[in-house]
Order: sequence, then structure tokens, then C-alpha cells
Amino acid sequence: MSAIDPAEAYCPTEETMRDWIKHSLLRLTRRQFVAGGTAATAALAAGCSGGTDGGALPDGSDAPPPDAPLLDGGPDAPPIDVPPDTAPDGPTPECLETDVDQLGPYYRADAPFRTDLNITHAAGVPLVIRGQVFGPDCVTPIARALLDPWQADDDGIYDNATAAFEFRGRLYADDAGRYEFRTVLPGYYVPRPRHVHLKVDAPGYVSLTTQIYFTDDPQSAGVPRTLRIPLTMDIATGGLVGVFNVVLVAV
Ligand SMILES: [Fe+2]
Repeated sequence: MSAIDPAEAYCPTEETMRDWIKHSLLRLTRRQFVAGGTAATAALAAGCSGGTDGGALPDGSDAPPPDAPLLDGGPDAPPIDVPPDTAPDGPTPECLETDVDQLGPYYRADAPFRTDLNITHAAGVPLVIRGQVFGPDCVTPIARALLDPWQADDDGIYDNATAAFEFRGRLYADDAGRYEFRTVLPGYYVPRPRHVHLKVDAPGYVSLTTQIYFTDDPQSAGVPRTLRIPLTMDIATGGLVGVFNVVLVAV
């Protein structure tokens, strides 16, 4: 394989990167998304600077084997190693409490504790969602908040019956209220925008049931803005990264 000459390399602009993400959200095929990510990775390897900074993202090379224990991120798990340069610094400038959204018909209680929801390594665009849970002042982190995300798979289908609890899981935030889980970009199902359901619970705060949406998804236009997050591409891995901070209301 010949090396890429930096002088001839195509260096994606921020606008181009956002176009790729938008195409992934409107996505036609995973192959098209991967082609964009591959081009970005090649550009990075060739010496491009700039682009989005999504922080570390597992690239699959260290993905757990299929028979790996499902328990991960439980109450006794060590603190999550969130890279300090990507740690969120607040929910919103206006300090808005996170909006409530519908539970929907597909919630399943008692999902396994884990931080990788794609437990069977199903197809899809890799996605990391990370954030921080705050009290109503939007400054005080809530340690060890319990998060319970669930979503449809790449084809917009929920696992409503299997023991794998595919694309479902529970995890605790660390002592600074930070959390992170890995999944894939949820597929569309009529008539919903792409979304990840999320319940958040912590002693002394009102239990929150909500959903996470993506700003570049045109179908999410009418969603409250506390629930819409931008996605950036980690050009080192070709995956997407989004930050969803949560503000809970005191009891
Ligand atoms: Fe849903």
C-alpha cells in the first residue's frame, strides 16, 4: 500500500464532515457512511488537521467477544474513564431542565448492567453517547445516577423478547455524574425520528423519562431542544459521538 502524500490528500472541512453525518442520519446504506469515514480516516493519516474532536471511541478492535459477560457498568463498577478533554462542561447555557418525553410501548425493566448496548455486534453506524447528570442548578453533578437507555436497532426494530436485551442496558454515572455508553445509530420506524429512550433516576430527584434526538435528523425538527444533540464524527474510527447532558428536578 502506498503512502498518501499530504500535499495531495483530501482534507475534509467542518462543513464536509457535517454533510457526512447528515447523510448518515438520512442514511441510505451503511456502506456510504463507511466510505465517508474511510475518506476522513485517510485524510487524517495523511496529515490533515482540524476536523471534529469526538474523543476516544472504541473501534471494534477491542470489542468484547460474543461470550463476554453482560454485566458491565453496575453499581460496583469502577468509575468511567471519560477523557478529560471531552468531558461536558454544562447542560445548556440557559440551564434548562431536561424535558420529559413519552416512555413508549417498548420499555423493558431490569435490563442488564452494561455500557455497550450492541451486545451481539449487530450492524449499524457506531455511536457513543456520553454526558453528565446535573442537579437543577446545572452545576452540581449527581453522583451515581442510574441511567437506563433503550432503542431500536439499525433497522428500526426493538428487541422486545430475547434474553440478550439487545440495545438495552443500565449503567451508573460516576462520582462526577459522568456516563458513557456505546451503541449504533438507531434506525427509523414509522412515524418516529431517530431516537434513544432514556430513564434517569437518582435519590432526591424526580425520576426522568425522556428521549435523545439528533439535530441533523430532519424528522426531529419539532422536538424540544434540550433533547436534540449534534453528532460529530470521530475521524479516527469513523464512528459518531454525541453529548447529552441531563438536568434533573429536585423532589
Ligand atoms: Fe421508540
